[in-house]
Amino acid sequence: MEELKKQIKADADAVKDTVALTQFKAKYNGKKGAVTGLFSTLKDAVDKKETGRQINELKVYVETLFAEKETELLDIKKTEELKGMDITLPAYDVATGTLHPLTKVMDEIKSIFTRMGFSIEEGPEIEKDYYNFTALNFQPEHPARDMHDTFHINDEYLLRTHTSPIQVRTMEKYAPPLKVLAPGRVYRRDAIDASHSTVFHQVEGFMVDTDIRFSDLKGVLDLFLKEIFGSDLKTRFRPSFFPFTEPSAEVDVQCVHCRGKGCNMCKRTGWLEILGAGMIHPNVLRAVRIDPEKYSGFAFGVGVERIAILKYQVDDMRLFFENDLRFLKQF
Ligand code: PHE
Repeated sequence: MEELKKQIKADADAVKDTVALTQFKAKYNGKKGAVTGLFSTLKDAVDKKETGRQINELKVYVETLFAEKETELLDIKKTEELKGMDITLPAYDVATGTLHPLTKVMDEIKSIFTRMGFSIEEGPEIEKDYYNFTALNFQPEHPARDMHDTFHINDEYLLRTHTSPIQVRTMEKYAPPLKVLAPGRVYRRDAIDASHSTVFHQVEGFMVDTDIRFSDLKGVLDLFLKEIFGSDLKTRFRPSFFPFTEPSAEVDVQCVHCRGKGCNMCKRTGWLEILGAGMIHPNVLRAVRIDPEKYSGFAFGVGVERIAILKYQVDDMRLFFENDLRFLKQF
């Protein structure tokens, strides 16, 4: 056995390539290999246990030398391959994508509100007239319901014109207290130009509880606008009208460009119109069987493109939808 062991070592040392390596293993541990053969002599051995142990040791020895040689050959191969190759050359750039600017703004808005404890709800883009208009206190003859102003699928369904229907859907599903943010895509039959698109994005937010006041709305929106545009900017609320809020307000933020001094961007007013908001109309609460005597709520709707345009100083909304990489790569 000692002789055999020496022979094994000598053979392993002589191996110079993978073919020889396979042959080496077969010669000893293969089906007809020398070590394998020894096992059949076991039955005649005096001390079967000890002899068995020794044969097994040889078998393991072959395996170990095989593994060592395999690594060695692999290393040699690698070194060969690297010869004549300049490994100090810089690597090729791996092209990585970036998030679309609208996705970035959406994510930022979501992050600000989830930190304030809002949870996220979604609704369908093909919406019922009932949720888009009726339950939101739009009168039957309201101009937005006209065929010319909205994409109707049929008498019952249309492409939602705003994210406010999610207010109704959420209030039907869950009882107050509610603190919800509802982002989504909306559609309007607008002529496309630098500031209008037939498809755009909104984020709706609303809160319903037993003691929600206009001051809560002001506090939440003021914090939101300061987070997204900068804490030194003032906000202002102007009276406005929406069928589903009363009182209603249009919210402005000091111009992000001139910081209130007056420039082209803010048409020299120093203010930028950012979103619509108000206290949820009692009729909307009634439509979802929430008692307006007991509960009150606020709601607001932000245009995501509008925020992105102001934040990144983009002068044409169409850029967001054209998928021109020269534009998208800047974000
Ligand atoms: N849904 C309104 C719009 O699209 C915005 C809004 C939302 C106003 C919530 C008030 C409250 O113009």
